[in-house]
Amino acid sequence: MIAIIVLLFTWPVLATQQSEEAETCSLCHLDLPLEPLQASVHQGLPCMSCHPGAKVVPHERTMNPEACAACHPGARAYWESIHGRAYLQGVPDVPDCAACHGGHHILSTKDPDSPVSSLKLPQTCGRCHENAGISERFGLPSHRYTTYIDSFHGISLRYGNLVAANCTSCHGNHLILAASDKDSSIHPQNLPKTCGQCHPNAGENFTKGKIHVEARPGVSYGVWAVRLFYTGFIGLLGFFFLTHIVLDAIKWLRRRHVY
Ligand code: HEC
Ligand code: HEC
Ligand code: HEC
Ligand code: HEC
Ligand code: HEC
Ligand code: HEC
Ligand code: HEC
Repeated sequence: MIAIIVLLFTWPVLATQQSEEAETCSLCHLDLPLEPLQASVHQGLPCMSCHPGAKVVPHERTMNPEACAACHPGARAYWESIHGRAYLQGVPDVPDCAACHGGHHILSTKDPDSPVSSLKLPQTCGRCHENAGISERFGLPSHRYTTYIDSFHGISLRYGNLVAANCTSCHGNHLILAASDKDSSIHPQNLPKTCGQCHPNAGENFTKGKIHVEARPGVSYGVWAVRLFYTGFIGLLGFFFLTHIVLDAIKWLRRRHVY
């Protein structure tokens, strides 16, 4: 008890001495694993550079995207994005830097294990945008992961074509905006430029088709009906084919017994 009281008073002094910082934090945070941090791009960074609020004890919310942006000015566009603006208003469920990049185990964006690498990003965004609960609460279309992963780009990516478009290629990474926003990369007027990054000469007609096609009645009736027809048709075909083989086999067996 006395030790804790002494610590509370001497904390501001202790905490500014960065060399022993990690040890002083671990006086209270006993079982915090430090290996993930040491194996990350931020190996050796003082704890306080990301947790400035930990200077005082007790500290409440010490993690703040501002601390990350102080060293990464290129990511400041986040504050103008739909996610960042909502974050500033205290909306829960919107991603801060850590929701996309990780907390202590942040890797280079080029690392295939990074949650923002080409192959992992669809799942990282999909955690929220596949989720019907979050989508309903915010009035957003859901199933963005499955509608992407079943698209030509998604299939191509799954086959290892890393230059096929993923969420970031069309939506941007930090400056993500709603389609209705004139400045958005997915505003109909800006689509020729967005698709044009990889499809030279992409005109207005090229961009008219839907990217996220939900095969559900009420959303994309035609696609749903065609898919339903083919599923039934191929199913029946398979059924008749199997029945034919079985009947044929029975006949053959009988014949062998008789003669
Ligand atoms: C005197 C004890 C003490 C010391 C020293 C201490 N902490 Fe804490 N810390 C706490 C307590 C208590 C909590 C609240 C735990 C809870 O609510 O689960 C906490 C919570 C936290 C949280 C989570 C709160 C959040 O959501 O942001 C972070 C991050 C944190 N501390 C970082 C640090 C860092 C970094 C240091 C060293 C610079 C440090 N702490 C030193 C006692 C301490
Ligand atoms: C690169 C920035 C960065 C550095 C450096 C950093 N942290 Fe954190 N820390 C974070 C982020 C981001 C989170 C929140 C993770 C989340 O939301 O999932 C976090 C969460 C925490 C938590 C609360 C969650 C938990 O796992 O209990 C504690 C405690 C903590 N950090 C302590 C430390 C200590 C001690 C150090 C120094 C050894 C340190 N941090 C260094 C970014 C950092
Ligand atoms: C919605 C998800 C998301 C959020 C939120 C987010 N990022 Fe990123 N970030 C990405 C993606 C995606 C990339 C690009 C990866 C690539 O180019 O392969 C990226 C790239 C980066 C890079 C590499 C350099 C660059 O700009 O391309 C840094 C540094 C970075 N982010 C820091 C941050 C910081 C700091 C925050 C918070 C202020 C943040 N990010 C918030 C998804 C996010
Ligand atoms: C004290 C400065 C500092 C703080 C604070 C900081 N970073 Fe970094 N960050 C760096 C340095 C230095 C590198 C490694 C150099 C590089 O690769 O650009 C780096 C690398 C990264 C990368 C990999 C960039 C790439 O090009 O692949 C990401 C992503 C990143 N940081 C995100 C964050 C996030 C998220 C936070 C907050 C939780 C944060 N950083 C806090 C200094 C910082
Ligand atoms: C932690 C959950 C979470 C993650 C991760 C996340 N988002 Fe979001 N996103 C939201 C929420 C919540 C909103 C609604 C914000 C609002 O309307 O205030 C939103 C809004 C959007 C919008 C605008 C939709 C509209 O019509 O208003 C787009 C586009 C978007 N996100 C794309 C992405 C992409 C691309 C990624 C990955 C790089 C991503 N999001 C990662 C939660 C998330
Ligand atoms: C080839 C480009 C492209 C890719 C890849 C892509 N999207 Fe989209 N996305 C769009 C376009 C264009 C729209 C708006 C029209 C529509 O719904 O088809 C959109 C709409 C959205 C919306 C609703 C935004 C609004 O304002 O209505 C969200 C959320 C979203 N996408 C998330 C994602 C996520 C998450 C991924 C990755 C798993 C992804 N997108 C991959 C182009 C793309
Ligand atoms: C990051 C690059 C990139 C972006 C951005 C991109 N695409 Fe693609 N797209 C590709 C690649 C690569 C293929 C070839 C996939 C394959 O055949 O394996 C492709 C294939 C296609 C196809 C299939 C037919 C064809 O031409 O091969 C269509 C249609 C298409 N994209 C439409 C779009 C639209 C519409 C947008 C903008 C909303 C867009 N793409 C944005 C990379 C991209």
